Amino acid sequence: MALTEQERNEYKQKITNIANSFQSKKANDHLRSRTEEAEGRLEFWQERASTLSWFQKWDQVLEWSYPDARWFVNGKLNASYNCLDRHLDSWKKNKPALIFEGEKGDHKVYTYKELHAEVNKFANVLKSRGVHKGEIVTIYMPMIPEAIIAMLACARLGAPHNVVFGGFSPEALRERINDTKSRFLITCDGAYRRGNLLRVKENVCAALKEADSVEKVFIVKRANIDIEIIGGRDIWYHEAMEEAGEDCPPEIMDSEDMLFVLYTSGSTGKPKGIVHTTGGYLTGASTTLEYVFNMKQDDVYWCTADVGWITGHSYLVYGPLLNGATIVMYEGAPDYPSKDRYWEIVQKHGVTILYTAPTAIRTFMKWGVSYLEKWDLSSLRILGTVGEPINPEAWNWFHKNIGGGRCPIMDTWWQTETGMIMISPLPGTNLKPGSCVAPFPGIKAEIVDKSGQPVAPGEKGFIVITEPWPSMLRTIYNDHERFKQTYWNTIPGVYYAGDGAKYDEDGYFWVLGRVDDVINVSGHRIGTAEVENILIEHPVVAEAACIGKNHEIKGQAIVAFVTLREGVCPDSDLVELAEELKKHIVLRIGAIARPEDIYLTKELPKTRSGKIIRRILRDIAEGRMIGDTTTLDDGFNLEEVMKNILVSS
Ligand code: WT7
Repeated sequence: MALTEQERNEYKQKITNIANSFQSKKANDHLRSRTEEAEGRLEFWQERASTLSWFQKWDQVLEWSYPDARWFVNGKLNASYNCLDRHLDSWKKNKPALIFEGEKGDHKVYTYKELHAEVNKFANVLKSRGVHKGEIVTIYMPMIPEAIIAMLACARLGAPHNVVFGGFSPEALRERINDTKSRFLITCDGAYRRGNLLRVKENVCAALKEADSVEKVFIVKRANIDIEIIGGRDIWYHEAMEEAGEDCPPEIMDSEDMLFVLYTSGSTGKPKGIVHTTGGYLTGASTTLEYVFNMKQDDVYWCTADVGWITGHSYLVYGPLLNGATIVMYEGAPDYPSKDRYWEIVQKHGVTILYTAPTAIRTFMKWGVSYLEKWDLSSLRILGTVGEPINPEAWNWFHKNIGGGRCPIMDTWWQTETGMIMISPLPGTNLKPGSCVAPFPGIKAEIVDKSGQPVAPGEKGFIVITEPWPSMLRTIYNDHERFKQTYWNTIPGVYYAGDGAKYDEDGYFWVLGRVDDVINVSGHRIGTAEVENILIEHPVVAEAACIGKNHEIKGQAIVAFVTLREGVCPDSDLVELAEELKKHIVLRIGAIARPEDIYLTKELPKTRSGKIIRRILRDIAEGRMIGDTTTLDDGFNLEEVMKNILVSS
């Protein structure tokens, strides 16, 4: 049911009331623009873009030819210059830019001046080996300062980076190298996670066996282990840095030049290379960080996301550095060496802003408050969450136990594609646990039905963005057609996010989760088709279907239903076989895609037209089928479906 004119006006009034409740004058003023027309938004973004340093000013704020946007047309700037150089002629040059906390307790601080020097040196290293403007460089690294240095060095040269999460398998790395045809790869010898050594360079060597484009591999020494060095191709980072000069002029980039590509899962098998450009992306990342976290110059800001995800890009690297903030970066796991590691870090570095994921909060909840007792968390003033809906119970726990009842929680909704936070409270908003409140100033987001009509409060609909925004993705790398189809064609005229949501009676947004074939495991997106394709490649598998089941800690967990090829090892241990299939997926994608359960079954429930009925699989996976013998779609009976299941593991 669509809203009447009167209801819409009431809704607008409510949003304005929310805006009025903001403490910060600046936020308050801009929040009003949520209800204003497009011109107000462009003015807002133009004003925000002016806070960056431009070599040449734009001559048009937005050129919009649906669905292609160009922001700050003909403006020229450089991302690394904006993150580093422009802070150097003030007191900030000696301010800590990056506080690195190693898993073993080692820590290292880089001031803005020092970080600038490292980035310049590494940019010179890359340049002298042939990296030039427009060249896509792949980065496959753990959470160490050199990952940030590498990203910024690429940005300095105008070479878009393609960061691949360090937990991905060689195959996933290879796929991302091959799609971008990278000639350069930056990686390390090994890494530590929960005290275990990860042989990163071995993964790289495996990946490169079928990735011919790579000519040079730069290797940071982190684990100090013996690795194979291939002459002419592999270069030690520390050796190359010794000879490099500290001055590398930033490349002058067009506002619309690509800053990076970052792959994310979609509803088909092939991950999508999400392309972000320079001027708009930087404007979006810096503005949202400043407003949502009310960033002040003495803040110590800690975002726990890995550099391999968009949160790492926008809110560990670009957003905070653009704001001249002090970043905390932690290498390891929250339970190493013990389950209070995060709280030790908060106290040790006096963290004031903590941005993390609901899945982490639920884990801390499970571990219990005894791990908090030893630590002083009074430095904290604002908390944030991202990646998946946060259940009110976890929200309240976080608020009370970590935030001491005084820190507001910014539940921020956004996506790899949006580049920046899109729907979120601001400090001072009246919060409701579990709601991400309202669109950010300058953003037009709505919840609509299939035909694009706004839904009434309480009704389920889809999140869409109805006006272009500066940090929107510009394309899918190598596949502009897929970009148009995926995001702009489901509900014509608007950006379709793939998330279900509803308004409450106060106009607050409540995100319900993905409505496509994407599973959100601990805030990580995994496409069902991606896992299914990998399963089908295993010689014993005839057919596979994956679904997401609700999971107490992870939000969702992957469950795979598999039918075996006829005649395949009838005597083999089926539980063992299921375990082998799990390992197969971990090897091919990475540990984040490991199914929680695998059901081996004689048959998958299908409609007459051959479509797998995933709803039944979800019922089975979540244990709703017991005793239910109702006849299902197309004559299927749960009992029969169940009878076909050979084993679950
Ligand atoms: C998907 C995007 C944005 C950085 C991390 C994930 C879900 C994200 C929230 C939130 C409910 C959320 C959505 C979205 N999501 N934030 N605050 N409340 N759901 O980026 O991998 O691109 O995933 O994460 O389903 O579509 P991503």
